[in-house]
Amino acid sequence: SHTVTILGLESSCDDTAAAVVCQPVGSAPRVLSSVVFGQTALHAAFGGVVPEIAARAHAEKLDHCIEQALAEAGISVSQVDGIAVTSGPGLIGGVVSGVMCAKGLALATGKPLYGINHLIGHALTPRLTNAVTYPYLMLLVSGGHCQFLIVHGPDRFDRVGGTIDDAPGEAFDKVARLLGLPQPGGPAIEQAALSGEPARFAFPRPLLDRAGCDLSFSGLKTAVLRTRDALVADQGGLHAQDQYDLSAGFQAAVVDVLTEKTRRAMTLYADVAGSDLALCVAGGVAANSAIRAGLETVASKFSARFVAPPLALCTDNAAMIAYAAIERMALHPADDLALSARPRWPL
Ligand code: KG4
Ligand code: ZN
Repeated sequence: SHTVTILGLESSCDDTAAAVVCQPVGSAPRVLSSVVFGQTALHAAFGGVVPEIAARAHAEKLDHCIEQALAEAGISVSQVDGIAVTSGPGLIGGVVSGVMCAKGLALATGKPLYGINHLIGHALTPRLTNAVTYPYLMLLVSGGHCQFLIVHGPDRFDRVGGTIDDAPGEAFDKVARLLGLPQPGGPAIEQAALSGEPARFAFPRPLLDRAGCDLSFSGLKTAVLRTRDALVADQGGLHAQDQYDLSAGFQAAVVDVLTEKTRRAMTLYADVAGSDLALCVAGGVAANSAIRAGLETVASKFSARFVAPPLALCTDNAAMIAYAAIERMALHPADDLALSARPRWPL
């Protein structure tokens, strides 16, 4: 029987990635390799991702990344059935690097080219890892994304809510910076919160009093900033216990907001899906145990399956891009060499 094998490339943010994914017709997809080069160290000194540095690093790393992914999969590029690449949304320099590289490969090998929306890659990951069937609810929570999607098919999404300002990972990172904790902020805050008293500071639950599934995190960050400044003015600095309590209070607010908004999104989803429900998460923030516990509680209230793909496939990677191409090629023709990079590309 026939197997489809795709080489995927991802370079839309601060990870350079290549992967090979195959799917024998009629059976489960398999990740043959997934190589990710992070750029965290390159950007560390600047307090955020610097687009020019990211673009140059992607351009330098992509070839090596691809060679390694092919080597680990034990195949040559002439054996794949197509080249998939993130063609948006993201930092334009990185997306262009990936698209140019993919076009070069497609031209040289004569293989079909698939420009993939990065968000669709994340959204379809539960099908790659856990054979989840349509429709399912996807909560995408990372440093750059925050949205609820009812996923009906590889090109049919209902966005039922999302952040109106920061993504939650961004809020974790900014709050960690405010508290003098290391980056990435998520794991540092989660760790500090373990020793903290969440009730010491009453932080707001943004948008909880408003109908719908939209979220907001920037006011919460500002509330932490004000409380920190008041403590510093009062005591001349922050004690370790203050860091712990501020972390615990902030995290508790994020958990409350995400849990309640997820409950609302599940209600909308359950209305259209009926039975056999699945709540799926993707993105680095899904690594947080307190957030995960809140989401699991919601899932169980709806008797829904809770699906969190392995972290390496939850965060930015190229296997999700290759897999999205496998689903797409069953429905749509390939792109041609005029494929363009789209910095903005909503679902
Ligand atoms: O999906 P991801 O690797 O990529 C980007 O968004 O680029 O997510 C990274 C984000 C960071 O903001 C990081 O602080 C957050 O996920 N994160 C966490 C945890 N681990 C990573 N946030 C909360 N709790 C965690 N344990
Ligand atoms: Zn992403």
